[in-house]
Amino acid sequence: MTQEISAIYPGSFDPVTNGHLDIVERGRSIFDRVVVAVSVNQDKNPLFTIEERIEMLRDVTRQWDNVEIDQFDGLLVDYATSRGASVILRGIRAVTDFDYEFQMALMNRRLAGSIETVFLVPAEAYEYLSSSLVKEVASLGGTVSGLLPLLVEELLSAKLEALTDADKEL
Ligand code: PNS
Repeated sequence: MTQEISAIYPGSFDPVTNGHLDIVERGRSIFDRVVVAVSVNQDKNPLFTIEERIEMLRDVTRQWDNVEIDQFDGLLVDYATSRGASVILRGIRAVTDFDYEFQMALMNRRLAGSIETVFLVPAEAYEYLSSSLVKEVASLGGTVSGLLPLLVEELLSAKLEALTDADKEL
């Protein structure tokens, strides 16, 4: 019997985009299991709470039986080891991603040599897509339709509206 391979797909997912989902879908067809792990990183000042990000991810990946959503704190390699995962999955878009991703992959290998980082390339339509860009465009009134799952698009618009209302009250 061959051993099952679990991959951890870590990130902030603030919020999950169609680019992330594209990587999850490709990952789940290669590995036995993909665990989408949301980083509990207090430094980043996220727009959505960890609970909101997890709930959105659960909603939009519900149709895939070998995809699980979780959260992690501390070192990624420690979390991967605790989950019995031998692969860290990352999406790589343009050449601009490469430097940061290369550094992380080498550092993670230094910390845990038995865990391999695997990079997947998203569909061309999502090459330029990032959560930060989507938030910026949406907050300035631009359209982000087609870049996010519908549910996430609605929640983003509600969140931005709530923030604007809160600002007005100040
Ligand atoms: O989607 P992001 O924000 O680019 O994800 C970055 C993430 C969460 C994968 C990275 O910051 C991370 O792995 N953080 C956990 C802490 C850690 O292990 N740091 C050392 C990585 S070399």
